[in-house]
Amino acid sequence: MARFTLPRDLYHGKGSLEALKTFQGKKAIICVGGGSMKRFGFLDKAVSYLKEAGMEVQLFEGIEPDPSVETVMKGAQAMLDFEPDWIIAMGGGSPIDAAKAMWIKYEYPDITFEEMCKVFGIPSLRKKAHFCAISSTSGTATEVTAFSIITDYQKGIKYPIADFEITPDVAIVDPDLAETMPKKLVAHTGMDAITHAIEAYVSTANCDFTDPLALHAIKMIQKSLVASYNEDMSMRAPMHNAQCLAGMAFSNALLGIVHSMAHKTGAVFADHGAHIIHGAANAMYLPKVIAFNAKDATAKKRYGEIADFMGLGGANDDEKVKLLIDYLRKMNDDLNIPHCIKQYGADSYPCEQGFVPEEVFLERLPEIAKNAIGDACTGSNPRQPSQEEMEKLLKCCYYDTEVDF
Ligand SMILES: NC(=O)c1ccc[n+]([C@@H]2O[C@H](COP(=O)([O-])OP(=O)(O)OC[C@H]3O[C@@H](n4cnc5c(N)ncnc54)[C@H](O)[C@@H]3O)[C@@H](O)[C@H]2O)c1
Ligand SMILES: [Zn+2]
Repeated sequence: MARFTLPRDLYHGKGSLEALKTFQGKKAIICVGGGSMKRFGFLDKAVSYLKEAGMEVQLFEGIEPDPSVETVMKGAQAMLDFEPDWIIAMGGGSPIDAAKAMWIKYEYPDITFEEMCKVFGIPSLRKKAHFCAISSTSGTATEVTAFSIITDYQKGIKYPIADFEITPDVAIVDPDLAETMPKKLVAHTGMDAITHAIEAYVSTANCDFTDPLALHAIKMIQKSLVASYNEDMSMRAPMHNAQCLAGMAFSNALLGIVHSMAHKTGAVFADHGAHIIHGAANAMYLPKVIAFNAKDATAKKRYGEIADFMGLGGANDDEKVKLLIDYLRKMNDDLNIPHCIKQYGADSYPCEQGFVPEEVFLERLPEIAKNAIGDACTGSNPRQPSQEEMEKLLKCCYYDTEVDF
């Protein structure tokens, strides 16, 4: 038996933030990040809509990008003190993911972070609060997914929490919020979204309910991402919807090793001055993983179907896979994203020698590969890599060399 779960309600279209006026409850806590929602006036609007709905409102502000376990614990304490019956998470993937984890700890104050990370092991929520997610970036789709990514900075590792219990009750997909995104954020979150759709389509857990969502998302992203990046503002709305469709697909079909590798490389070089931003990591690793996975006959056929759906041409599946890889690499060029870790600068832009020194990468490689194999996203990848294969694949992602194994 398989399960397909989405939020019960999804409000979409320009101005759909107003849906908050119709919420029923007594107390709402709004969880936000570092200030963009406040700066652009969306936070004030949300507060006034909830007050119009008769609710008492409290803010939990300052959730950092790639939120930490400590932030989750702090937010949960604020919830325990205030006792909200609505948790409203607003912003990019970071504040929404953090709020999802806070929600678990709020409902079960004794639960440990390790217990939360047990895949599909979260006890029933919604005894204290319901959850609404309002996304302001066009990528993670966490407003509709069963996932939350929390970083343990002591270990330098991102842990996915995965359970349909944390699929929000309500998602608001209002493109007004995405219009304020700077170009770099559009690029990174957009490549995250296409990675979600492609990994979901070839995942071993794909099904008839997820395939159409994934394919349509891929086509919409093909049409809108580069234009949206180049500040054609009419493309922000289709990108915002497309990333959400990709999220509906991968929340139910799961992901693959592009994400396993991105999770395990994201924060592991932080002591060298930067993170490899999630979407940029995906953008660099995706073409390599396609070449690796295409050695599996079923995956190759499905990549061919994606290429056909995108209208890329090619006389057979080998050619189609090659054209798909070329297309994605060209997208990276158009979006000013490097092709490999070696060329990934601390500012995320391509450069001759990036912030991760070669010897540091090689020294940490066995551990990173081991952690990537153990990531929750590896299980649904079409090909299960050995330790040796994962190390070779990561090396191709460092040096931008051909994957021929
Ligand atoms: N839960 C999931 O299913 C899922 C999926 C993929 C990624 N993730 C996680 O999500 C996180 C990344 O989220 P993200 O890419 O959305 O970015 P983010 O939430 O980390 O935000 C990045 C920066 O953009 C700013 N920002 C956000 N929206 C803005 C807007 N509209 N205008 C201007 N600035 C804005 C934020 O203030 C922040 O400084 C990572 O931790 C990643 O691992 C989660
Ligand atoms: Zn992602």
